[in-house]
Amino acid sequence: MSDGGGRAALVTGATGGIGEAIVRRLAADGFHVFAGGRRRQRLERLAADVGAVALPFDVTSETEAAGARTVVEGEAGGLALLVNAAGVFDLAPVTDTGDAVLNRNLDANLKGAFNVTRAFLPAMLAAGSGLVIQVGSVAGWRAFPGNGAYSASKYGLRGFHEVLLEEIRGTGVRACLLEPGAVDTPIWDPLSPDSSPHLPGRGEMLRPDDVAHAVGFVAGLPAAVTVPLLRIERA
Ligand SMILES: NC(=O)c1ccc[n+]([C@@H]2O[C@H](COP(=O)([O-])OP(=O)(O)OC[C@H]3O[C@@H](n4cnc5c(N)ncnc54)[C@H](OP(=O)(O)O)[C@@H]3O)[C@@H](O)[C@H]2O)c1
Repeated sequence: MSDGGGRAALVTGATGGIGEAIVRRLAADGFHVFAGGRRRQRLERLAADVGAVALPFDVTSETEAAGARTVVEGEAGGLALLVNAAGVFDLAPVTDTGDAVLNRNLDANLKGAFNVTRAFLPAMLAAGSGLVIQVGSVAGWRAFPGNGAYSASKYGLRGFHEVLLEEIRGTGVRACLLEPGAVDTPIWDPLSPDSSPHLPGRGEMLRPDDVAHAVGFVAGLPAAVTVPLLRIERA
């Protein structure tokens, strides 16, 4: 395992399958981890278990993201690593995708990642270091029926990330878009994937630890090395 050397990392979506695995991995690697999510009790249990700091906030709120930044700056000075892993997934044909579902996906997956990045990026730029990892998806570059709202958010995230790469070039700040295929997490629970012939079975999916491993790998690279895009699939 790499050594985070006590450097501070914020992981959003830490109450979910992928985010929790990333928190555990980064804590084991020696990072001073701030775990973000909205379910406070779950967050506090995880934080106590791994020696992280629970940081409950809604990624879609500019005010709450600023509050999270104040806590991180007060306790750790600034972030070495931000992992935007909060997200939602709705499956419906375009004709059945109303405004509420479209906005839910765009708000959490695209605007949330944009919002939290914007909150922490200025301090990273001022420090001339830092790494921002966006958790995208295979649905951010490949089309699947029923993914209208979700893909719109994840293709949008890819666009945002690519612009960010251009804006941070030469600053010392790095960014990585991680695009996993299906991962066995609670995000699939409402869809019962094992009983739907159109969805991958849970046994065919990546494990949350696989994604956490990739985050640990990217975060453990020397500061002079950048991985702008990392796609992860089941072999
Ligand atoms: N599972 C997959 O197959 C898969 C594949 C590729 C990419 N991804 C992406 O990986 C990320 C994590 O997914 P997962 O599978 O781990 O899902 P999950 O288990 O359902 O967890 C989702 C997480 O997002 C958080 N979240 C959602 N909306 C939020 C908001 N407005 N503010 C703060 N936190 C919010 C949830 O926290 P609270 O409920 O506590 O707020 C929870 O921690 C998502 O971006 C997803 O699109 C997943």
